[in-house]
Amino acid sequence: MGCLHSLPNAIGVFICLLFCCFWVPSFVFAAFLPVDNFLIDCGGGKPLKVDDGRTFEPDSGNSNMGFSISPASRIVVSENVTAPWNLYQTCRVLTETSTYTFRTKQVGRHWLRLHLYPIENPRYNLKAAVFSVEANGVTLLHEFSFAESEKRPSRLYKEFVVHVDVSNSKDLVLTLSPSNASLAFINGIEVISVPDGQFPSTAIAIPIGPSLEIPAHVALETAYRINMGGPLINPENDSLWRTWEPDYPFLLNSASAWSVSVDPSLIRYPTGISVEIAPKVVYATAQEMADANVGEQRFNISWAFRVDGGFTYLIRLHFCDIVSQALSNLVFNVYLNNQSALDSFDISSKTMELSAAYFVDFAADVSMSSNQILVQIGPPNLRNIPSNAILNGLEIIKLSNPDGSLDVPSGADFSSRGPKRKVAVIASVTCLAGFAILALIAAAFYLHFRKSKKPKKHPTSAWLPLPTHVGHSESKISTVSYASTAPSLGLGRVLAFSEIREATKNFDENLVIGVGGFGKVYRGVLDNGVIVAVKRGNPRSQQGLTEFRTEIEMLSKLRHRHLVSLIGYCEELNEMILVYEFMAGGPLRTHLYGSDLPPLTWKQRLEICIGAAKGLHYLHTGAAESVIHRDVKTTNILLDENLIAKVADFGLSKLGPTLDQTHVSTAVKGSFGYLDPEYFRRQQLTEKSDVYSFGVVLMEVLCARPAINPSLPREQVNIAEWAMHWQKKGHLNQIIDPHLVGYVKLESLRKFGETAEKCLSEYGIERPTMGDVLWNLEYALQLQQASLQTIADENSTNYIPEIPEWIPHIEAADCDCADIVSDPGSDAATTSGVFSQLINPRGR
Ligand SMILES: *[C@@H]1O[C@H](CO)[C@@H](O)[C@H](O)[C@H]1NC(C)=O
Ligand SMILES: *[C@@H]1O[C@H](CO)[C@@H](O)[C@H](O)[C@H]1NC(C)=O
Ligand SMILES: *[C@@H]1O[C@H](CO)[C@@H](O)[C@H](O)[C@H]1NC(C)=O
Repeated sequence: MGCLHSLPNAIGVFICLLFCCFWVPSFVFAAFLPVDNFLIDCGGGKPLKVDDGRTFEPDSGNSNMGFSISPASRIVVSENVTAPWNLYQTCRVLTETSTYTFRTKQVGRHWLRLHLYPIENPRYNLKAAVFSVEANGVTLLHEFSFAESEKRPSRLYKEFVVHVDVSNSKDLVLTLSPSNASLAFINGIEVISVPDGQFPSTAIAIPIGPSLEIPAHVALETAYRINMGGPLINPENDSLWRTWEPDYPFLLNSASAWSVSVDPSLIRYPTGISVEIAPKVVYATAQEMADANVGEQRFNISWAFRVDGGFTYLIRLHFCDIVSQALSNLVFNVYLNNQSALDSFDISSKTMELSAAYFVDFAADVSMSSNQILVQIGPPNLRNIPSNAILNGLEIIKLSNPDGSLDVPSGADFSSRGPKRKVAVIASVTCLAGFAILALIAAAFYLHFRKSKKPKKHPTSAWLPLPTHVGHSESKISTVSYASTAPSLGLGRVLAFSEIREATKNFDENLVIGVGGFGKVYRGVLDNGVIVAVKRGNPRSQQGLTEFRTEIEMLSKLRHRHLVSLIGYCEELNEMILVYEFMAGGPLRTHLYGSDLPPLTWKQRLEICIGAAKGLHYLHTGAAESVIHRDVKTTNILLDENLIAKVADFGLSKLGPTLDQTHVSTAVKGSFGYLDPEYFRRQQLTEKSDVYSFGVVLMEVLCARPAINPSLPREQVNIAEWAMHWQKKGHLNQIIDPHLVGYVKLESLRKFGETAEKCLSEYGIERPTMGDVLWNLEYALQLQQASLQTIADENSTNYIPEIPEWIPHIEAADCDCADIVSDPGSDAATTSGVFSQLINPRGR
């Protein structure tokens, strides 16, 4: 197979290993010391130590560092900005074509990593800068601009591989060229020698055919580097300072996969596989089939990656059998772009042992008309083998095209691109201006006739978007700002059915990520690259229509940091579709048990509960009419990529009682194990039913077990009963998640237990409000963080106080409701002022 090292290379690596071990025995990543290792902080004034422990040198003055910049006409912007990373605090602005020349000591492939962040400053509008970047004759970026790139990332991190040979006199020359009258800029550059054997000279073609040659002069660009089933791996945890992203955002059906992990120290690298191929932490985690080995599983785990059409991609799959008990027990199929890549593949037949690293390289052409790479693993068509399949890591690497470019697809007309773009820009500016006027008129109309409420679709620009997918998740557009591109009428955007159909690949069953009360939920990607969750209602009935409309109006009014936000909706062609922001972290439940995600710390759990409580508190009190969620449970609390909790699934929610009522009568709905017993008996719904369900959630978070687990002894089946039994005895600590034992301060646990106990009170009237719950959880967090002495004499541990004044204030600051609290004349300084605004948004 083309991917293995030749023997001399392996020996070389071995010798190098020995050598390095002798000299730096304690160095964690002893295996590889790059001969060339330029780390440049552009525009910097002194050596800069960055988070990953490396030191970047300034690019000014010093010429004995082995690189030079020309011409001298360059300007440094260095403002005291609060950049997300210290390397972004300075950059070099270039007003004419300029080069960085690196005199490398070694010929061969080099990583070239570029860091770009348009620093806001009074002199230059770097966001609008348009420029191209080349290295040794290969186009890396063609007329790139932050303003015009499709996803409008806030920063750009790009990793390329460029070849240096004797014909370049061992120089790596990086050229930045501003487009007509524009600027170029750069914040950081890394040039690092690539170890031998890191990239293959051939790869298996997909569909399976003759091997594809990858000559050394072909430049590469990392499109994706993924750690399947594991966390983000930052440069400091990779001996070659690579970044590995988690796979959730690309998983088409998150219910199809379970992540598994083992202790990284168990991973072995067989002869022929260098430790530099991928770190142990990558091989030590994987995604496997959910409910693996249960019955006759017949499905694939699928991941989809957006790529630029018109290029060939190297696809490297990393495998390591960390799930089997014996050799030859794990046999599966791998498909790339619907084509069979590995058939009845048995990792152990290659490695001859378990927990051993292995990788395979494929090459696939992605046509101009397509823009994705689909990676699937699934069970083999064999009877006597348990159904399972795994994948540990994945790299997707773009190869430069025959024109020597990594940006503009071959076939695109270079010369006509510039002028066309200008026309398009002018056209779209005109369009936008027109649109702004239209929006104003529409807003005026809207205020008068609230019923006619379809905001015009934002005009979409006609030019070819620059491909700029990046390895960094931070580059994703924030869905909140996206949602606000709808005129600020408070409603989500109206989306065309065709747009939604395209986003979900015609409602592909493989994209289903859940089925709720309302209908199926799909993962989709809008044409601007924003990942969304698409909820499609069951065929409409008159009744359903009313509820759908209520839901849109209700949800449009509910904007809060801790509620999953509505991006848009569609009611064309008898369809009822709601489009929400996509939550990469998935449901809270999967972080508690039943998966191999790393256990959450107590602080994380408290913060998640606090977030969810804020969302519910806002539902109950923040909107004009209070809203009862009715289906609070750990699968309806979703986490984003930063573990921020948001309450989701309002499919069952109901407007709360109006002032002259005390409850809403309704047929009992909700989820078993979370149901308020009083609601069940009396069929009368109040906000306190949500409080009860939230109490169950709190216990679940503490004990890391399902609300109902029928396989346990009878007295333990129902968590509410079981946990209350221990709480009443004062020994709740006996049944907490073993991962928490020793990490939870007793005071914090006591406060948490009391709060949950009050939530689970038999009668609604005895239960606290969500505001009280929130306050008590915040207090439990403080108790956890405070030092033991200062709180020891606190006498309030048995007392659930009234909701203090500052809660609503925090809420108002937390909620994304700028258009609601926008009246400068109001007395926004007092909490009640803020709240009356929230309660009566029409009062503006
Ligand atoms: C990364 O490295 C740091 C320090 O070396 C360590 O504390 C941390 O656990 C590592 N993370 C992973 C995912 O291995
Ligand atoms: C793979 O097959 C699915 C379903 O048949 C189709 O929708 C999709 O476009 C195909 N993808 C590729 C890359 O061929
Ligand atoms: C898995 O995906 C491949 C390619 O898209 C398809 O041919 C195969 O039938 C799928 N297998 C299952 C079990 O769905």
